[in-house]
Amino acid sequence: MHILVIGTGYVGTTTIVAFAEMGWKVTGLDTDMRKIQLLQQGTLHFYEQGLEDLLVKHLKDRNITFTSDSEDAIRAHNIIFICVGTPSHADGSADLTYLKEVSKEIGHAMNGYKLIINKSTVPVGTLEKVANWIKSTNDSSQAFDVASNPEFLREGSALTDALHPDRIVIGAYSDSVKTQLRELYQSMECPIMITTPRTAELIKYASNAFLATKISYMNELSRLCDQLGVSVIDVAQGMGLDPRIGQSFLRAGIGFGGSCFPKDIAALLHTAEKHDSDLSIIKNVMSVNQSQTMYLLNKARKRLSGFQHRRIALLGLAFKPDTDDTRHSPSLRILDKLLREHAYVTAHDPVAKLTLDSHHNWKQCNRPEQALRRADAVILCTEWPLYQSIDWSRMRDIMNKPNIFDGRNMLDAQQMRSLGFHYQGIGYE
Ligand SMILES: NC(=O)c1ccc[n+]([C@@H]2O[C@H](COP(=O)([O-])OP(=O)(O)OC[C@H]3O[C@@H](n4cnc5c(N)ncnc54)[C@H](O)[C@@H]3O)[C@@H](O)[C@H]2O)c1
Repeated sequence: MHILVIGTGYVGTTTIVAFAEMGWKVTGLDTDMRKIQLLQQGTLHFYEQGLEDLLVKHLKDRNITFTSDSEDAIRAHNIIFICVGTPSHADGSADLTYLKEVSKEIGHAMNGYKLIINKSTVPVGTLEKVANWIKSTNDSSQAFDVASNPEFLREGSALTDALHPDRIVIGAYSDSVKTQLRELYQSMECPIMITTPRTAELIKYASNAFLATKISYMNELSRLCDQLGVSVIDVAQGMGLDPRIGQSFLRAGIGFGGSCFPKDIAALLHTAEKHDSDLSIIKNVMSVNQSQTMYLLNKARKRLSGFQHRRIALLGLAFKPDTDDTRHSPSLRILDKLLREHAYVTAHDPVAKLTLDSHHNWKQCNRPEQALRRADAVILCTEWPLYQSIDWSRMRDIMNKPNIFDGRNMLDAQQMRSLGFHYQGIGYE
């Protein structure tokens, strides 16, 4: 099978490599020439462990090619995956501009039967729109089918998730499409759920909203734990031993971020509102998430009697470890607040890089110790394993004041206190 993947971002590039690993020939198409040039040379334009090695291997074996010529690429393939971005409009609704553009390009270039499968996260009913957009430019009335195949991979473990998914969800209308997609995924060992496109679209949003709910629940509980002098880490462990609850997504912290949860929840809430449905739980998930980031900052502000002229070391900029993605990262909300309150911020992240041209009050450091030198406090925002292996006893000596605010409950509170630090975590005093 020869597959075309449109959009070579995090999802598209991972999908391309995964399909090549499954034994298919794959072409990646993007309008961004810089990305295409880098990918053609075997270089990833984002950080994702393990992906680049396989990309290079499959480029060499000619299983993968890249192009920016959409018309040629669409004409040369009859199985087309769409993996373009679906960001948020100001009102929270999903911005389908890229999807519409791609659909119209496909319709325009149609030269025979095509199966078009959407992997982008989209509101219920979008696949019907995709079909209509294709029709609107499909002047020669070529036959085509559409299907929905939401993506569940996580940045930081994208390749493993794509090669060993928990489940594959396919939303399709006709038996022949279902058969084609089953064949495409024949080497996968996970359950394949076949359903309607609308159900497939909602499964994606409902899954992300549920995971975010677990996080916000634990975060809100962590505030009560602080009041009661109970460790939220121990509570989470005890809860997670119940298989109906499970251990994952029970870690309290400064809240979730990234390119998916915040925008997908906003889009789900927008859909609910449009249909007079009150998803009150999900609304609260969002507001707890916003206030949780400030919850840690308030602890630090109180301890330091304000941030003005304080030197704050920020450890971690990415929204989670093992990625360079800073979209909607809680660290950035903290950084913004600190700068507004006239702190001087020295930040570190092993892979994420920020450009904040207009601000002189901050610096990004190459090593954690550079960020910590002369700091009045450190705020740990991303649980990179590197931060656990820091020589904290030496750090105490190079810091101006030994204050640690651990936004991920990553460090050992007792050990930090025995080293002479003032340590505060979240629900983990
Ligand atoms: N990033 C994740 O972890 C993740 C996980 C699951 C689902 N998703 C969903 O998958 C979709 C893609 O996410 P992403 O993180 O890969 O986005 P991304 O922004 O990293 O990549 C999107 C790519 O599409 C390209 N593009 C836009 N218009 C195009 C066009 N007309 N022709 C060709 N290419 C075009 C862009 O240049 C960009 O490279 C989104 O809907 C997202 O919600 C993302």
